[in-house]
Amino acid sequence: MGFVVGYILGFALGFGLMVGFARYQNTRSKSRTDLAAAVAALSRMTVQDSRKLLPDQFYPSWLVNWLNHLIEKIWPYVDEAASEIIRSSVEPILEQYRPAVLASLKFSKLTLGTVAPQFTGFTIIEGEPKEIVMELDLQWDGNPNIVLDIKTRVGVALPIQVKNIGFTGVFRLIFKPLVDEIPCFGAVCYSLREKRNLDFTLKVVGGDISSIPGISTALEDTIRDAIEDSITWPVRKIIPIIPGDYSYLELKPVGILEVKLIEAKELTNKDVIGKSDPFAKIFIRPLRDRTKTSKTKDNQINPIWNEHFEFEVEDVVTQNLTIKIYDDEGIQAAELIGCAQMPLRQLEPGKVKDVWLKLVKDLEIQRDNKNRGQVHLELLYCPMSSESAFMNPFDPDFRLTSLEKALKQVTDDGADEDPPKAASKKKDIIIRGVLSVTVMSAEELPTTDFMGKSDPFVVLTMKKSDQKNKTRVLNDTLNPVWNQTFDFVVEDGLHELLILEVYDHDTFGKEKMGRCIMTLTRAILEGEFTDIFHVDGTAKGKLNLHLKWTSQAIIK
Ligand SMILES: *[C@@H]1O[C@H](CO)[C@@H](O)[C@H](O)[C@H]1NC(C)=O
Ligand SMILES: *[C@@H]1O[C@H](CO)[C@@H](O)[C@H](O)[C@H]1NC(C)=O
Ligand SMILES: *[C@@H]1O[C@H](CO)[C@@H](O)[C@H](O)[C@H]1NC(C)=O
Ligand SMILES: *[C@@H]1O[C@H](CO)[C@@H](O)[C@H](O)[C@H]1NC(C)=O
Repeated sequence: MGFVVGYILGFALGFGLMVGFARYQNTRSKSRTDLAAAVAALSRMTVQDSRKLLPDQFYPSWLVNWLNHLIEKIWPYVDEAASEIIRSSVEPILEQYRPAVLASLKFSKLTLGTVAPQFTGFTIIEGEPKEIVMELDLQWDGNPNIVLDIKTRVGVALPIQVKNIGFTGVFRLIFKPLVDEIPCFGAVCYSLREKRNLDFTLKVVGGDISSIPGISTALEDTIRDAIEDSITWPVRKIIPIIPGDYSYLELKPVGILEVKLIEAKELTNKDVIGKSDPFAKIFIRPLRDRTKTSKTKDNQINPIWNEHFEFEVEDVVTQNLTIKIYDDEGIQAAELIGCAQMPLRQLEPGKVKDVWLKLVKDLEIQRDNKNRGQVHLELLYCPMSSESAFMNPFDPDFRLTSLEKALKQVTDDGADEDPPKAASKKKDIIIRGVLSVTVMSAEELPTTDFMGKSDPFVVLTMKKSDQKNKTRVLNDTLNPVWNQTFDFVVEDGLHELLILEVYDHDTFGKEKMGRCIMTLTRAILEGEFTDIFHVDGTAKGKLNLHLKWTSQAIIK
């Protein structure tokens, strides 16, 4: 039971520290002074200092040994006190994620066993001033006795025993704030920073778990969500050591990530008849209620979605955006086509980023090089104002992203607009205007006839408003020059998509060579620009385009 393990370990650690400190406080003053001196020294040390002071191999092993010694001594106390606290704090979480087939899910037995976890490694992370951040590698091959009583909706009661827990992971401890008083910090936060390995056996007492189909998977899903929601970084538990208000240490949103799912290309075809029916699941924290699902695009390996999602961000430094693309198999379970990740620290706050992410089979083990396709996203991270403590809250622009600032400038220049509210978010803005697209030329288009030539033309589509136009056909060329300009009246610039498809004209119709898809964000931000775009679906084909945006109105 991963969450129990996570919770127990985290709890044990925190609790162990508390008990440890209490005991130390009560023993001879010598050990107390030793501890205080050690902690005080730690609090003054930076990573560099510690390396200077003590040889690498000695410094961590000293602390690791000390901790292992400590946890072994206090383990019986931890075991005794922990079970009641774990029960009262884990049961509500279990209740929240309880699968629908179960009527109840409660502990009937809970002891941690005689084997204490072992610390196997130790790192100090460079954090903010006034805090010490430690990461502890922990291993637990425990012999706990945990029995969960499960009641199914059909009235069957099942005592499920969790056996043979094997766990390796990394716990993060944050000592904060640092104070002058012993033990030198006000509170300890702990969190499961990384889950490396988790094995356990579920066993029905006096029965076989497979006798109720689906229960094992349902339980594992529940467990996964509960671990994620209760203890996995950036979620943290706070243990006050010196009385005080530590609510500022609690996890809170620091910003909003806006994601535009534009398209995907060259997705692996998973269907025997026809093509895949792709849809995307997108999340920052892999919780069911924080995962967004796109629409399903039937029978396509190059789907266009043009959908928008928003996510709460809690820690820009460590969190990632994850996208998983599945093939919808109707009544059967959807099959994974591929997934991709984008670390949020790669996003510049307030700046729009247009990315193509390569899909892989597994985010952790990246050893297959098979092409699973790519997904095209536009990302914008907007920090919340509380993040920017140094900004003047009286400056009406202080919460605006660069896009909003650009939009605001446009409105401020417009004479009879009301001054826009500083806090209005991008999604609340509707921006109207005219997009002028000049299709200048194309280069290195593929050949389509036996003479080694093609008769290319370009079809322009505004996806949301469904407006279309096309260039003239140019005969016998792979490097056509059109120099034709098309004006589109756009009602909602931030949600529109421009699609350019390059075709070869022939007597019997047309044949598609490839396409380019883009949002209007860059045109809106820059006013106008000229650029070269790769034609997806061709080896080397390029389109030379000039885009110009003329704003007409911004409505909030
Ligand atoms: C986030 O992405 C980075 C780099 O791709 C990776 O090293 C890290 O493990 C990821 N974090 C999580 C929580 O998946
Ligand atoms: C292109 O070729 C078609 C027939 O192959 C012809 O009807 C048309 O006039 C040609 N266009 C130009 C611009 O030469
Ligand atoms: C296309 O436009 C560019 C820039 O306006 C110009 O330099 C070029 O001569 C034009 N080409 C044709 C064939 O009209
Ligand atoms: C297509 O573009 C041409 C040239 O810009 C314009 O005259 C025509 O009205 C457009 N047609 C449509 C349906 O928008």
